[in-house]
Amino acid sequence: MSRFCVVLIALLAGAGGCSRKEGRRVVRFLDQPDSGGAWKEIIARFEAAHPGVHVELVEGPPATNVREDMYATSFLSGDGTYDLAYMDVIWVSKFAAQGWLRPLDDRLPPAARADFFPGDIEGATWQGRLYRVPMRSDAGMLYYRTDLVKKPPETFEELAAAARELQKPPGLWGFVFQGRQYEGLVCAFLEVLRGFGGDVLDEKGEVALDRPEAVRALEWFAGTVKTISPEGVTTYQEEEARHAFQEGRAVFMRNWPYAWSRLQQEGSAVRGKVGIVPMVHAPGCASSATLGGWGFGISSSARYPEEAWAFIEFATRPEQQRLFHFRNGAVPARRSLFEDPEILKESPHYPELRRILQAARPRPVHPRYPQISDAFQSHLSAALVGREAPAEALRRAAEKIRAVLRK
Ligand code: GLC
Repeated sequence: MSRFCVVLIALLAGAGGCSRKEGRRVVRFLDQPDSGGAWKEIIARFEAAHPGVHVELVEGPPATNVREDMYATSFLSGDGTYDLAYMDVIWVSKFAAQGWLRPLDDRLPPAARADFFPGDIEGATWQGRLYRVPMRSDAGMLYYRTDLVKKPPETFEELAAAARELQKPPGLWGFVFQGRQYEGLVCAFLEVLRGFGGDVLDEKGEVALDRPEAVRALEWFAGTVKTISPEGVTTYQEEEARHAFQEGRAVFMRNWPYAWSRLQQEGSAVRGKVGIVPMVHAPGCASSATLGGWGFGISSSARYPEEAWAFIEFATRPEQQRLFHFRNGAVPARRSLFEDPEILKESPHYPELRRILQAARPRPVHPRYPQISDAFQSHLSAALVGREAPAEALRRAAEKIRAVLRK
């Protein structure tokens, strides 16, 4: 990772100064590596229709919080590297509150928003103004092996019991998820926390992490390590979990919808043997998927805002979101694509996924969310690796989050 960052920083340093390429106006954005090649194709289609514009994708590290830091560093310095901000739903409030984004209300009037999922539009809005056009929707879910599991579990106890019964460690473990210290860990734990009836903040906005239901949730979550989950799960991001499941090394997996199409690829050990259900919950409580999702904004320091908008308008059209789905496994943010016959044929789980997406719940919406998450991540991780007892980890996280909110 560190060598990767050095290369990347060198690349960015080079990129910042030059916003014209061979006479074309350059608009740039940062995302994770373009695994299926969808961005390449979307950019090629756009450039063919707009010969004066060059869109450059900078491929950054997979962890969302690392890319958030990269955008933030650039916007703070005003170096003009990115005309476009390709944003995780959790960055919008911070970026907008900092004044790093241009409002898009006039460019995407209410009628043009109707096809998008309401949660994605809400997550694109800060203090009543729209700052992001949704490209892909996202929500956590539970994958299971249909050849091993007779009836998918609904509760935490059922999940743990089925995992214990079916696993044969070290070759086959019960449950894999994102256990590394980064944003994905917060997303995965939030589903457990809310599934136990807890939350980060209560309805009054008070930090609720040091309450009994939260302790029960973290006891369950940390208790998976080395019992139904491999010890190494504490180093997993999305892709490590996906690989373990795809290679037939896990019965259950918590992940985002993107994994589906890869699990069905030729050569996958679990092709045709995968089901999805909402994440489990405690008896008497409800399932709660964490809302994710990505979309485009225009930076305040954009040199070419019109060209940036032309790309956003083009990239978020149904044809491009469709391509993004087929190539990169992304879930379209446009509801109409959930009725697309070819998408439904390839992804027969989409009706179920749609229900999960519609019920997904956002992470706390706050301009200092990244600091809240940092505090939370470090103590969640300490509990998973056994360095802090769950109650202690939550007490410390709660204290730090209270301090962040007081600032
Ligand atoms: C996915 C989600 C994003 C989340 C991230 C965590 O990319 O769409 O919202 O922050 O995973 O790893």
